[in-house]
Amino acid sequence: MSSGDRTPQTFAAAIEHKERRYQSYPGSNYVLPSDAAEKERLALQHNLLLHVLENRLIIPNVVIEPEDHILESGAGSGTWLLDIFKAVPGSVVIHGLDIEPGLLPKGDPAVLSRGNVQFDIGSITSLPADWDSKFRLVHQRLLIAALRREEWERGIAEMFRVLTPGGWVQLEELGEWTAGPETAKFTALANSVAKAKDLVIDCALLIPDMLRRAGFANVTIEQKLIPLGSQGGRLAVDARNNWMGAFRGMKTPVLKAGGLGHVSSEAEYDSMMDAMEKEMEEMPTAEMQYYVFYAQKPLV
Ligand SMILES: C[S@@+](CC[C@H](N)C(=O)[O-])C[C@H]1O[C@@H](n2cnc3c(N)ncnc32)[C@H](O)[C@@H]1O
Repeated sequence: MSSGDRTPQTFAAAIEHKERRYQSYPGSNYVLPSDAAEKERLALQHNLLLHVLENRLIIPNVVIEPEDHILESGAGSGTWLLDIFKAVPGSVVIHGLDIEPGLLPKGDPAVLSRGNVQFDIGSITSLPADWDSKFRLVHQRLLIAALRREEWERGIAEMFRVLTPGGWVQLEELGEWTAGPETAKFTALANSVAKAKDLVIDCALLIPDMLRRAGFANVTIEQKLIPLGSQGGRLAVDARNNWMGAFRGMKTPVLKAGGLGHVSSEAEYDSMMDAMEKEMEEMPTAEMQYYVFYAQKPLV
């Protein structure tokens, strides 16, 4: 069964009854799991987002030349990178960077045999010193659950440094999700997680100014509203499964932090998730804001 065929219940069951595994990168506050179920969710999410963006992997108007380099920052399981690999000239060098080796497609022989796809373990806040002006395009998607405010600033400054003059950055992030009162309860919990972990839950509001302050020009924003309710058809079912999968994946960090005043047991967390999922399914107006930001490093 592909992840797209799962009902909400089977998707939840697949991730709930397993011990979840989390990253242990020094200093990281990333709160989502890094295990096989998460890899499956990231695949579902990639297909969903491709659909939402009308199959456009690259949004800015940039031509990738045979001698170019591309960086996928926070590459996860490499789903975007593997599709880019098929879409650009064979000589293009593609780097994927992540703090978590467990998610990377190290075992994919089709990738390894090309020899010009390189995965590195490290943080987007500290890229190699010899990457100055190296990349035509840097892509980074969904680090909302990972970066503190100063890490956003440092990461964007690093992207600026490693882009060629005239090169483009493309960031993709969540905005707000809305449904009804059950969903609002979780939003309050997510805000508490962000506060406790110093994460920037409203990063979508801050990114355009952070890009400008780092020196980027032509800062452009594209907003998509992704339906989550049952009247949104297949797209909404996938979107709901995907983000409920992510929200359920925050259970361990929340419980380890004592429930943050919102839940006091695993059963309570699970009930909150079940109620939110049901509410989303029943509310035709339930939706997720999704943003693409792109910007150019000036030529001089
Ligand atoms: C929600 S996943 C998204 C993965 C991928 N961008 C995608 O869209 O499929 C977030 C990823 O960011 C990685 N990550 C978190 N903090 C990071 C950091 N400081 N530097 C590099 N990667 C990081 C996580 O390990 C995870 O793979």
